[in-house]
Amino acid sequence: MSGPTSSSIRRLAPDPDGATLDDADLISGYAVAPGPHLRANFVTSVDGAVSVAGRSEGLSSRADKRIFAILRMLCDALLVGAGTLRQEQYRALRLDERRRQWRQRQGRPAQPTLVVVSGSLDLDPSQSAFADAPVRPIVLTTADAPVQRRKRLAEVADIVVAGDRTVDLPHGLDQVRALGHQQVLCEGGPLLFGTLTAADAIDELCLTVSPLLAGAGAGRITAGPASAVRTMRLRQVLGDDDGMLMLRYTRDAQPR
Ligand SMILES: NC(=O)c1ccc[n+]([C@@H]2O[C@H](COP(=O)([O-])OP(=O)(O)OC[C@H]3O[C@@H](n4cnc5c(N)ncnc54)[C@H](OP(=O)(O)O)[C@@H]3O)[C@@H](O)[C@H]2O)c1
Repeated sequence: MSGPTSSSIRRLAPDPDGATLDDADLISGYAVAPGPHLRANFVTSVDGAVSVAGRSEGLSSRADKRIFAILRMLCDALLVGAGTLRQEQYRALRLDERRRQWRQRQGRPAQPTLVVVSGSLDLDPSQSAFADAPVRPIVLTTADAPVQRRKRLAEVADIVVAGDRTVDLPHGLDQVRALGHQQVLCEGGPLLFGTLTAADAIDELCLTVSPLLAGAGAGRITAGPASAVRTMRLRQVLGDDDGMLMLRYTRDAQPR
């Protein structure tokens, strides 16, 4: 199965004018005010699937990938659960030259920092996400994490401990922010997102809806502990020529 292919993106709400958006438009459309901010980014099918054959690739498109890349460029740190890192075989987080220069013009480090959440530390230090990283990644883990695995990972990443048996995510995020990473982008997956939702830590959700019926089997974008219902505000709807929708929701605090 392949997704839609066009990358022409238009604003559908608010104020649709029919114009095709360039990168500068997208950057201003996704800008957030300075200060701590946790944004999650997911893609789903119209029937709510988080994956096709175990990966998100089958749900994505050129337009979705364009937004995905812009959001990476705008973040200080990229937070990802170990399940997604393993399943999606994350490569090194490395922005291209144009995006590095854009960040440096904003007075930011050229590359964002990868932050991986794992209790088991069942992570491969030779995976490209660690071994080829232009900036040393951070692994958020627990005090009870296996010592030998921790030692091996410490060769390629900075280990930050938050919590004893499971990662205390609010505490972990505080530590990440104390290292200078205020604007955090979470790329999932469902267990990490569900746990952050339960902690009421999510400020924003960027959700791409792909015009596909994926059928039964796959999970939703969220999993894990139950949480109180939170109302989100729809801030922006973008679309491409193939019916892909890029939705931006925030909690009460106003984005820039
Ligand atoms: N459609 C999309 O946009 C999208 C985005 C991301 C992922 N996905 C899909 O989601 C699936 C992966 O789902 P998943 O739920 O396994 O992903 P996940 O949330 O990325 O990973 C779960 C793992 O993260 C670690 N973790 C998360 N919260 C933790 C906490 N509070 N304390 C300790 N460890 C914690 C644990 O790692 P350890 O096991 O190492 O302890 C846990 O097993 C894949 O099929 C992927 O393709 C889709």
